[in-house]
Amino acid sequence: MSDRSDTPTAVIRLADYRPPAWTVEHVDLAFDLGIDRSEVLATLDLVRQADEPIRLNGEGLELLELHVDGRRLVEGEYILANGVLEVGVEGDRCTLVTRVALRPAENTAFEGLYLSGSRDKGFLLTQCEAEGFRHITYYPDRPDVLAKYTVTLRADKARFPVLLAGGNPDGAGDLPDGRHWARFVDPHPKPSYLFALVAGRLERISQDYTTADGRKVDLHIWAEADVIDRCDYAMDSLVRSMRWDEQAYGRNYDLDVFHVVATHDFNMGAMENKGLNIFNAKYLLADPDSSTDDEYRHVEAVVAHEYFHNWSGNRVTCRDWFQLSLKEGLTVFREQSFSADMNSAPLKRIEDVALLRRAQFPEDAGPLSHPVRPSQYSEINNFYTATVYEKGAELVRMIAGHLGHDGFRKGMDLYFERHDGEAATIEDYLKALGDANGVDLSAYLAWYGQAGTPRLSAEGRYEADKHRYRLLLRQRTPASAGQPNKQALPVPVRLSLFDANGRAMPLRLEGESAADAGERTVVLTQAEQAFVFEDIASAPVASLLRGFSAPVVLECEYAPAELALLLRHDADGFNRWDAGQQLAGLAYDEYRDGKPEGAAVVAWASALAGLFHDASIDDALLAELLTPPGEIELVERQAERDPERIRAIRRGMLRALAKAIGIDALKARYAALREAASDGLDAASQSRRQLKRRLLDLIALVDASGAVALAGAQYSDAPSMTDRLAALTTLAVTDAAAGEQPLAHFRQRYDGNALALDKWFAAQAQLPGDAALARVQALEDDPAFTLKNPNRVQALLGTFARANPTGFHRADGAAYRWLGDRLVAIDALNPQVAARVATAFNGWKRLEATRREAAHAVVAELAARKDLSRDLTDILARVAL
Ligand code: ARG
Ligand code: ZN
Repeated sequence: MSDRSDTPTAVIRLADYRPPAWTVEHVDLAFDLGIDRSEVLATLDLVRQADEPIRLNGEGLELLELHVDGRRLVEGEYILANGVLEVGVEGDRCTLVTRVALRPAENTAFEGLYLSGSRDKGFLLTQCEAEGFRHITYYPDRPDVLAKYTVTLRADKARFPVLLAGGNPDGAGDLPDGRHWARFVDPHPKPSYLFALVAGRLERISQDYTTADGRKVDLHIWAEADVIDRCDYAMDSLVRSMRWDEQAYGRNYDLDVFHVVATHDFNMGAMENKGLNIFNAKYLLADPDSSTDDEYRHVEAVVAHEYFHNWSGNRVTCRDWFQLSLKEGLTVFREQSFSADMNSAPLKRIEDVALLRRAQFPEDAGPLSHPVRPSQYSEINNFYTATVYEKGAELVRMIAGHLGHDGFRKGMDLYFERHDGEAATIEDYLKALGDANGVDLSAYLAWYGQAGTPRLSAEGRYEADKHRYRLLLRQRTPASAGQPNKQALPVPVRLSLFDANGRAMPLRLEGESAADAGERTVVLTQAEQAFVFEDIASAPVASLLRGFSAPVVLECEYAPAELALLLRHDADGFNRWDAGQQLAGLAYDEYRDGKPEGAAVVAWASALAGLFHDASIDDALLAELLTPPGEIELVERQAERDPERIRAIRRGMLRALAKAIGIDALKARYAALREAASDGLDAASQSRRQLKRRLLDLIALVDASGAVALAGAQYSDAPSMTDRLAALTTLAVTDAAAGEQPLAHFRQRYDGNALALDKWFAAQAQLPGDAALARVQALEDDPAFTLKNPNRVQALLGTFARANPTGFHRADGAAYRWLGDRLVAIDALNPQVAARVATAFNGWKRLEATRREAAHAVVAELAARKDLSRDLTDILARVAL
């Protein structure tokens, strides 16, 4: 907001961490809420911890009064500079009172107290993580200051009939002049980033819940009247999450009420404020007419994620923001386990690893690469990244795998018990898990401190005369900014060895007496290590890194026939899929090198053609198997990135696949799936829809007009949004003219449904090639388009810049220049959103020369500006390096 980069921004370093000089025992907040102007009266009971003045953070606040121990201070008795209020006091305790004024309706950055929706109908809400609380009142706004909160809200009763804050309700009543009040007391000490309030006209759905330890809890989901009937799936998901955390981790909810609120104006996915979770509507609302199957799964996952934070994040929080992954990586891992239990575990694993490869690997290979625990930052909002979240979750998974199911649970129990009510570090976490199991996990700390994706190379040699198989593993992590030399990490490699008939062999390592069943885990701890397996009767094919046992890139020179064997026989659903991905990678290389009839292409296409007719394979898994790595991942297989070329090669190999299966077989299977279509949310119906969508895309590659006819019919009589959107996207991408009418129809049908319209914008932002930019520019003129709404910006600009390589990276650089202009405009409204969209420039250095120069010119020009936010400046400065 006010932080423009002409004031030089400080770099915050982990090494400089010092405990707070003053802590807060109790804080009492009284709000007089209004849309244009709100007032906050804060009473802080402060306790001295060091011989220093009191320093409170505060930004964009109008200070009306300041009192210390009952005496009003006048100017000169305090210092107010650079977002810090400094007051020197004697004694070890004091009560400090401030009264400040805020302007919620002017807050377009959506950080602190702001207005969601229109001035006459919208509601007020807060977002404090990471450092938003300082936009609400003067406070030591850091996660290691934990206090008990009492919050009183006062507002006009007609305009703000609903008043909510975190904690247990502690009275409410009417006031003169049509106003009313409500009070909330939170018995659990919490950091300021978990504070929240909501006030306005909202409807609710409610449910009673009794925890495993007998607490009766009122669950409420709140939303504006027009969408309240779309909250039922979220409520079911919440109840499932609460039960699951009781059963899987022994964690019970700990307040008498739990509120969840939906807003259309939110920078992130959702927020775990204590007792009052606030959600981007995108991750809370779901209904059959406007949500896809993917969106239902996202709602379930995000509801669970925020709920799980109540223990992993709230009861045990982070000492400082460098430890962000302590709560985020752990909570993503818990969310992934929950989703795997609720749905198909192998499909969930495939989806998670695909996301890691699509989002985190590129991030970690470019200028924005950073460790899961960064050592410095200038804007913490820019570290809510795929690395902190998704790679962080992989690290927890590795450690959990190391300890085994029961050992991990024992470790988690000790972690929660030992650090309840505290602000912890990643060292604390590893120590608790290790202590509970009598092991030392400190070697894993290196994973948290080292950026970059390790390469794991594997070389197997079969010694036929000795019946031995020798597996040589080597690791190497490429240098990254500030980390030229990388150390060896503990890399758990889960593996099986298959014989030529696809049977897993018993495994006995040299020196061991008894053989294991067909799978085991070896841990590579050095740069290079050999593992020798004995009594191996014939030359095996190794299935390595099963279940993706470590977040690395596997480099292993498989012959196409070996991968085809794994693709047919591997019992590990993830590795089976991954064998297909590796084989597709080899097929891509052959296509790229002008060998469209090469051994890998043939092996890949014929293995999949065989599986296509294998009735034992689940429809959704088949859909995943029929999907090779995407255009973004395939960049890794090109020395220089030319998105048009990558797309053409990928389509070429998909066409070969479609032909190998046969157009008639594809159409017959598609027709059978159409026949069986329902709008049910059961796994089988969802799987059918997923496969149907995949088949439609394959058909389009060999018979465009046939696919257009099928998609047109599918659009018209689709029983669900999943089918409708799939048909719409196929039409729009395959044939511009055929797409026009259904696009117009969809636009009108969903007018007023913000989340459905976002999909309409996003579908068109994916148009391939040079046509995309003009379309995106035309869509900016749609009356429903606005730069003020983060979801809308992500749907149109975000999709175009980050998910449409051939559209965004056009050779003339026009899209780069256009996005540069838009970034400046977005930044003036909402720095966090601008910074996120700007990460689209992350990979510019690896583009081919013409595009590289065009992108660089835009990045350099933006980076030189002095009028941009700290958020955007930080991204540009790192990307431009
Ligand atoms: N803690 C939230 C979560 O559940 C995300 C909050 C992100 N906030 C931000 N300013 N980046 O993941
Ligand atoms: Zn989270």
